[in-house]
Amino acid sequence: MSPESIRRIGILTGGGDCPGLNAVIRAVAKTAILQYRIEVLGIEDGFQGLIEDRIRPLSFRDVSGILTRGGTILGTNNRCNPSRWCTGFAAGGTPIFSDVTGTCIDNIRKHRIDALIVIGGDGSMKCAAPFVEAGINVIGIPKTIDNDLYGTEITFGFLTAVNTATEALDRLHSTADSHHRVMVCEVMGRNAGWIALTAGVASGSDMILIPEIPFHESAMEEFIGSRMSGGPGFAIVVVAEGAVAAGGQQTIARFDPTSPDPVRLGGIGERVAEIIRARTKADVRTTALGHVLRGGAPIAADRILATNFGYHALAILLEGARGRLVVRENNVFSDVDLLVSAGRQRLVPTDHALITAARALGTSFGDHEVHRLGTRAQSTTV
Ligand code: F6P
Repeated sequence: MSPESIRRIGILTGGGDCPGLNAVIRAVAKTAILQYRIEVLGIEDGFQGLIEDRIRPLSFRDVSGILTRGGTILGTNNRCNPSRWCTGFAAGGTPIFSDVTGTCIDNIRKHRIDALIVIGGDGSMKCAAPFVEAGINVIGIPKTIDNDLYGTEITFGFLTAVNTATEALDRLHSTADSHHRVMVCEVMGRNAGWIALTAGVASGSDMILIPEIPFHESAMEEFIGSRMSGGPGFAIVVVAEGAVAAGGQQTIARFDPTSPDPVRLGGIGERVAEIIRARTKADVRTTALGHVLRGGAPIAADRILATNFGYHALAILLEGARGRLVVRENNVFSDVDLLVSAGRQRLVPTDHALITAARALGTSFGDHEVHRLGTRAQSTTV
């Protein structure tokens, strides 16, 4: 199909929601309607709407005034993969799965959708992969507060989550100081420590625990012990939900076998608090920010990023792109093969410039490493 023959696109938001989803929907739909006179269909609740044929036209009016709104006007779903769709449960509660990709493709054809815009993270791109392989033109747009989608240096939603976490950590700072306490704050991020690292640095947290750098109890005892006795007498510890003790396992809150990513992490904050309490006798409190990081209006940087991503998705589609993911690399917008990013996560490199800088300022990562003079980190992109 030539780019000029694209008359109608479908758009869906998949996976966990994040600030900026509506800004992307608006950017895609307004560009399509205004510049190319392309019709836009909104698919409800992610891939589930494609399975259940819940697809409705989106007018210019529908997408006006939504730039600043949190959530997604289309609804989303992080428990739906059409190639492994849960149709019921066998005796004993084991889920029964069925591949309903064909049903989705029938619905795409029925609505004469020429291209599908999938706004999502690695899980949504994985769900989209069979459609690309079946010849459907899918253009992906990278979303997630976790900032962990392979192929792009940034996803929209992340900077707002960092901002929210930073504000919370700032508030914990003053109460920690007043009560001479250790405040442990758990943040989301799955297997990547981007939110903890970035909000930790932005808030001047004393210790940052991320999954990429396993922590050692002895190092924590040494560091927190000296802050509490010889230092300022309080400490702020930010913990990524995927953080793990050296040689240990991640802390799992629950397991959802029907979800494309069945593991839900959570609870490491409380475990870290127990370790610090036991080893230093400090007065410790825990806060888990959880879904607070996913809610609310996007900050300006995310509105701008979302607008750029949405516009670029339409621009490359009309230039003839097929099966591509819009990305930003070295501050430039481009695109990569969607199948390469599908299901792949981007973790924090342990030589990241922010880690090196934080260590130089005396921040602990819960390990026995210290900053070495003359060390210059290479990777700089958050
Ligand atoms: O991927 C976004 C995210 O918020 C992760 O940081 C977190 O681990 C997960 O989703 C939580 O999922 P749910 O909304 O199903 O609890």
